[in-house]
Amino acid sequence: MSSNSAGPLAGQVALITGSESGIGRETARVFGRLGAAVVLNGLQAERLEHTRQALAAEGYQVAACVADVTDFAACERLVATAIDSFGRLDVLVTNASISQRAYFADMQPEVFRQVLDSNVYGSVYPLKAALPHLLQSQGSVTFISSISALNGMPSGSAYCAGKAALANLAHTLRLELADSGVHFGVVHIGFTQNDADKRVLNAAGRPVPIAHRPPRWQKSQAEVAAIIVRHVRQRRRRTVISALGRLILVVHSLLPRVGDWVVLLSQRRLRNFYE
Ligand SMILES: NC(=O)c1ccc[n+]([C@@H]2O[C@H](COP(=O)([O-])OP(=O)(O)OC[C@H]3O[C@@H](n4cnc5c(N)ncnc54)[C@H](OP(=O)(O)O)[C@@H]3O)[C@@H](O)[C@H]2O)c1
Repeated sequence: MSSNSAGPLAGQVALITGSESGIGRETARVFGRLGAAVVLNGLQAERLEHTRQALAAEGYQVAACVADVTDFAACERLVATAIDSFGRLDVLVTNASISQRAYFADMQPEVFRQVLDSNVYGSVYPLKAALPHLLQSQGSVTFISSISALNGMPSGSAYCAGKAALANLAHTLRLELADSGVHFGVVHIGFTQNDADKRVLNAAGRPVPIAHRPPRWQKSQAEVAAIIVRHVRQRRRRTVISALGRLILVVHSLLPRVGDWVVLLSQRRLRNFYE
């Protein structure tokens, strides 16, 4: 696969947080394929550099910055990397996130904060740092959320709360900055294949493998990445991925007690789905 300087996004610059792995990496790959320059981000220098080299070898324009997105000064450095490398910023996708596998009653308070912060401030701080440039380019902001933000999910309290906050934040920013020309959207992702080494936090804050998900329920990372990029290009307000996600949305809005009954039943029958 080679660089596409005549692609539909040629001349644009996309910054994707948490893109050293998983869905973020594949989203960066799609932006690159369409001609955008991409800025990668993550916490692990070696893995980030490995991803940068892989995308550069495919012919894409790519820069990278190790930055903790819950640290505002680090986010300023991240945005400076985009401007120093490519001179502008058109697209921000806040994808970095820590998930959990822990019931609220068991969770250490600092673990709750870590998960919540990564999902809320992990979007707020990159956006605060990037906003002046996005106002200039009349660019696009997409918060990556989850279908579990459309409803509660046992063993996901801080994660669900953080992801749900992003939908309200996007709505408020759309209203506050209605005349700015900047797009604010949210993508609610459903079950997706994970990198083998993906970890989430348990109640004590230790990284553990993600709970079992039936493979037939999962979309590929490439499919999800293509949907995210389409959402950005169409400047959609909300995209809910998967039939299950859309079903949750309808049931939660129209028949919330039925929705709760189904979740409680699944919690009794499919314990390893949550724990
Ligand atoms: N996979 C799914 O089934 C699914 C379902 C719904 C929603 N989502 C959402 O989709 C997005 C991507 O998920 P994924 O499955 O691709 O997960 P992933 O492979 O764990 O990717 C998340 C990335 O974010 C990085 N990250 C975490 N905290 C960070 C921080 N403070 N600063 C900078 N980078 C940070 C991680 O880096 P380290 O590994 O170095 O910590 C990792 O590279 C997330 O927002 C997730 O909530 C995923």
